[in-house]
Amino acid sequence: MIKELINKAIQAREKSYSPYSNFKVGASVMGESGKIYSGCNIENAAYSPTICAERVAIFKAISNGEREIKKIALIGSTDSFTYPCGVCRQVMTEFASDDFEIIVAKNIEEYVSYSLDDLMPNSFRVRDMGR
Ligand code: THU
Repeated sequence: MIKELINKAIQAREKSYSPYSNFKVGASVMGESGKIYSGCNIENAAYSPTICAERVAIFKAISNGEREIKKIALIGSTDSFTYPCGVCRQVMTEFASDDFEIIVAKNIEEYVSYSLDDLMPNSFRVRDMGR
């Protein structure tokens, strides 16, 4: 399952639109239904509208009806691990299952796995608004 997710992230990375950074990122998310949704980073000449691969994949899952995500794999395009940015970590907190797993891959063989609490401790969630 983890290798399938990484493989889908690698395939999605091929579609990256990143003419400004030249840094391709791919991500894939497994929703509560077991379906997989993939995404790549999409940049913009105005820079700030740029969106990360992780958010594209998560928003595809949510817009297809998923309400919880179980796993995410991501892969950048250097020889080292690419970790999710802070904005993407915040988006993950909104939809992550209790056993959510973040798989940061260098390639299909080399990856590290984290819980959301590892990467986003004491995050702000709906419960912090007293709901
Ligand atoms: N990027 C991602 O897609 N995910 C990350 O977690 C880090 C950054 C993208 C955004 C931008 O297109 C490029 O990488 C350089 O920041």
